[in-house]
Amino acid sequence: MNTREQLLALNDELRRLKAEGNRTISVSPEAMQALRDALADAPEEDGRSGFTPDANVALAVSEPSGVKPDPQPVRTFVLPTPAPVVAAKPALPPRPDVVLPDGDKPTRWNALREIVLNDPTCRQNVHPGKQVVFGVGNLDTAIMFVGEAPGADEEDQGEPFVGRAGQLLNRMIKAMGLDRSQVYIGNILNWRPAMGARNADGSQTGNRPPTQEEMACCLPFIRAQIAIIQPKVIVALGKTAVDGLLGPDRFKSMGAARGSWHEYAGTPLRATYHPSYLLRQEGLVSAAAKKIKRDAWEDLLAVMERAGVTISDKQRNYFL
Ligand code: URA
Repeated sequence: MNTREQLLALNDELRRLKAEGNRTISVSPEAMQALRDALADAPEEDGRSGFTPDANVALAVSEPSGVKPDPQPVRTFVLPTPAPVVAAKPALPPRPDVVLPDGDKPTRWNALREIVLNDPTCRQNVHPGKQVVFGVGNLDTAIMFVGEAPGADEEDQGEPFVGRAGQLLNRMIKAMGLDRSQVYIGNILNWRPAMGARNADGSQTGNRPPTQEEMACCLPFIRAQIAIIQPKVIVALGKTAVDGLLGPDRFKSMGAARGSWHEYAGTPLRATYHPSYLLRQEGLVSAAAKKIKRDAWEDLLAVMERAGVTISDKQRNYFL
């Protein structure tokens, strides 16, 4: 397990302990130091949805102070034993060209959807019994959102952004004065990236960002969706979408990517924070958390302006 996977496993273990009703855990100074070292090694927060240190869970970890808020049982925190690592998957096969029939948008989109849903690599990589996830929405939209990869809820339902992050995305779209049926939503990847390690019941331990190889495998599909829909504006949700559409070396962080206009194949592209990252700011009152939410709203205002969506004074002054 690498550091990121260990942190994800740790996060899951903390969630599990919390779900069991544990309110406090005691952490030895050595373990605390090991955690700090691991976090120092973790990638810069960049809006990726993969590593999800749940604030509520993470806040439950504190050095033993001797003052206990309530008489809940104190458990010694034990770093989770690494889950068995599933044998490495063979390299992904080269992606054949996407060939679509001539015709109108629905004809081409339906043909592409069939290709993706039946793609052997997508089908091999989707979790057993789950669905390959293709984009949804209005083919004549001015605004196309591109996310990272499906999570468990999306693979269950075969639709992008239907879990918690999707509910926040719906609220963001509503705040823009629009509705989910008026926009298009797709992902860089069409399956949920596997962690390579499983819980005892076979379920996955969390989400991780796709590898470059996985992205290369699915990128022709999101590119083809953009080519069919020809939106006025693309909104890249998080760093994976930015890397996938603009190139992996173009921006070091979301901070560098957001706040100005870019271009994907002639279409204006605006980068903003991934809803999963924004979810982690909910309930936080720090100036930094407020700025992140405000920045995200400013990104959406810029998108509305560029796409020709009317902006009311209330919307424009939302954060003033
Ligand atoms: N996160 C994504 O990036 N895409 C989804 O479809 C769901 C969550």
